[in-house]
Amino acid sequence: MNYVIANWKMQRDFAQAVEFCTQHKERLAALAAHADRELIICPSFPALYTLKQILHNTAVHIGAQTVSSHAAGAYTGQVSAQSLAQVGCSYTLIGHSEQRQHAGSTNQDIALQYEQLVAAGITPILCIGEQYDAYRTGGTHKILQEQLAFLEQYASHDRVFLIAYEPVWAIGTGIVPDHAYLADIFTWLHERIDAPLLYGGSVKPDNAQTIMHIPHVDGLLVGGASLAIDALESICSTKVQ
Ligand code: PGA
Repeated sequence: MNYVIANWKMQRDFAQAVEFCTQHKERLAALAAHADRELIICPSFPALYTLKQILHNTAVHIGAQTVSSHAAGAYTGQVSAQSLAQVGCSYTLIGHSEQRQHAGSTNQDIALQYEQLVAAGITPILCIGEQYDAYRTGGTHKILQEQLAFLEQYASHDRVFLIAYEPVWAIGTGIVPDHAYLADIFTWLHERIDAPLLYGGSVKPDNAQTIMHIPHVDGLLVGGASLAIDALESICSTKVQ
């Protein structure tokens, strides 16, 4: 399976998200119609329900960008996994570096979010990745190991999730790690994790093909380039090896 995740972050407001999906419904439907491709659009919370309605008779999936680590209760400002399931989310990002950085998400919070999603029948997309300093000093594997550690408590047959490896220094910067570095990381991940492995960080139409041909890369998590329909189409039609 070839996964393409469009992470719209807070780049599009409700009206813009609705307009985009209404205007490009046929093209999005065509992209998602391939049996070996899963297209997941992650808008901000208010647009989830409406986009699900607009795209209801297509194979496009809708996903949230984060979720509460609690099931219900006095958690002002948070959204439960159950609510996300009810509005039609089939996937949800957890551990995105912008959540780790701006919302103070810890590995412990992320482990709880994972549990909430699985209980609600939503597939977690666990985002992991190192800061530039760790990259520079050879500390990437250690960071990834810490971010992945909580998964060890689950038997492998109970696990349903995707991993998105996103070096923090590649997100929104236009910089993509070199081929040898990514090949090493994806082989390392493949040896440890039995789940689809995605790459994210400055994916564009002109580098998508090269990245998808790195062994064990099963898909792409795309931020900026997923906002334009032409770029999204080009990235989706990247040939898988
Ligand atoms: P980018 O974002 O493609 O704009 O670098 C990726 C992400 O943050 O998921």
